[in-house]
Amino acid sequence: MIGLDYRHVLPFVSEAEIHNIAGRAEEAARKLTAKTGPGNEFLGWLDYPLTIKEKEIDEIIEAGKEIVNSAKVLVVIGIGGSYLGAQAVMDMMSDYFPADKRTQIIFAGNTLSSSYTARLLEYLENKDFSLNVISKSGTTTEPAIAFRLFRQLLRKKYGKEYYKRVYCATTIGKGALYNMARKNGYRLFSIPENIGGRYSVFTPVGLLPLAVSGIDIKELIAGAREAAIRHKSAPYPENEALIYAALRNLLYNKGKLIELLVFYEPKMRFFGEWYKQLFGESEGKENKGIFPASALYTTDLHSLGQYVQEGKRHLFETIVDVANPDLDIAIPAEAEDFDELNYLAGKTLSEVNKKALKGTVLAHVAGEIPNLLITIERLDPYHIGALLYFFMFACGVSGYLLGINPFNQEGVESYKRNMFALLGRKGYEELKKKLEEL
Ligand code: PA5
Repeated sequence: MIGLDYRHVLPFVSEAEIHNIAGRAEEAARKLTAKTGPGNEFLGWLDYPLTIKEKEIDEIIEAGKEIVNSAKVLVVIGIGGSYLGAQAVMDMMSDYFPADKRTQIIFAGNTLSSSYTARLLEYLENKDFSLNVISKSGTTTEPAIAFRLFRQLLRKKYGKEYYKRVYCATTIGKGALYNMARKNGYRLFSIPENIGGRYSVFTPVGLLPLAVSGIDIKELIAGAREAAIRHKSAPYPENEALIYAALRNLLYNKGKLIELLVFYEPKMRFFGEWYKQLFGESEGKENKGIFPASALYTTDLHSLGQYVQEGKRHLFETIVDVANPDLDIAIPAEAEDFDELNYLAGKTLSEVNKKALKGTVLAHVAGEIPNLLITIERLDPYHIGALLYFFMFACGVSGYLLGINPFNQEGVESYKRNMFALLGRKGYEELKKKLEEL
């Protein structure tokens, strides 16, 4: 289901080291699956694809249809784990040049950009639109501000009936969003309390916007389910998620502090954003953690490639490759070979892309950059579901191998406290004074 080829790590990490870490990796996986490690109150995602009921998925699909039938645009409001998964999957599954037929999905509330927000409000003025507001806590500032602004426009356009166009995903029974939804009659979907934002793509957080975009969410869950069965039980040498986590840990301990997740398919660019949040927010704690970065090759070989080849040797690459592209195209021959490309005539673009991949791996390994290769068969909901689950499981194991709690994110609060103080929020007066002296 997920291919993992680590032969290009072997010049840097020995077979013996990979063998010797087996016990620690299996112990980390045991802690995860037995729910005995730190953060175990947030492990609802582990079994979610196995336990979600057909009926719940059908309800989401129905709500999706309702949105498609009534809105030209769905504004998905959320930040961090509340939107990255949906946007990543949507990008991987969408046409590069979508025909303007289905409901357009636009993400908002993940930035404080005044220009973006004002322009989007203007864009929506004469379009039928609905809102999907996603916030587990129900109190995050960026989406809360966006919700206020877009709610006002919705009210202006649709009057008292506006509430029928608001679909919320939040923790049931808690938080401002839940209370507003109850009071105003917004449609509510549950984000289970025991699932953190960055692990929530298989809950209504990801499923509702994905259903609206026409993606087969049942297949997505089916892929995740298969991956859950495999990664939760397969022993170390056969469990790609465990081996991947173990290799990351071994490389980290050899000073490889940055992981560059590499794609050769532009549709995966946003998957890199999802991965960065998953690993960055999970592992970056107690002055530890691999810094997650991502790049699109061969595009970025013409920007980052020089650094990767010859810059500081503190990184490794993990390629996520799609074995079978959706489409392929042969390079034609020309009678006059002015561009000297006739040697490629008859070859397909994907063959050239694969050779670029191989050539780059060999060049980078020669330049002391360890390389891992993860492969999925194709970009379809089933394989994407498996890929997302693979990374989530590997992230949990990686975090435990590192000795941190991969399921909290207290560090994110620091900027919020300062922002609240500087904006004059009640209760932050002391901090405000301190910050203004700086
Ligand atoms: O992964 C996480 O937990 C975070 O990135 C959250 O998703 C993000 O901070 C948004 O939080 P909320 O959904 O509570 O608005």
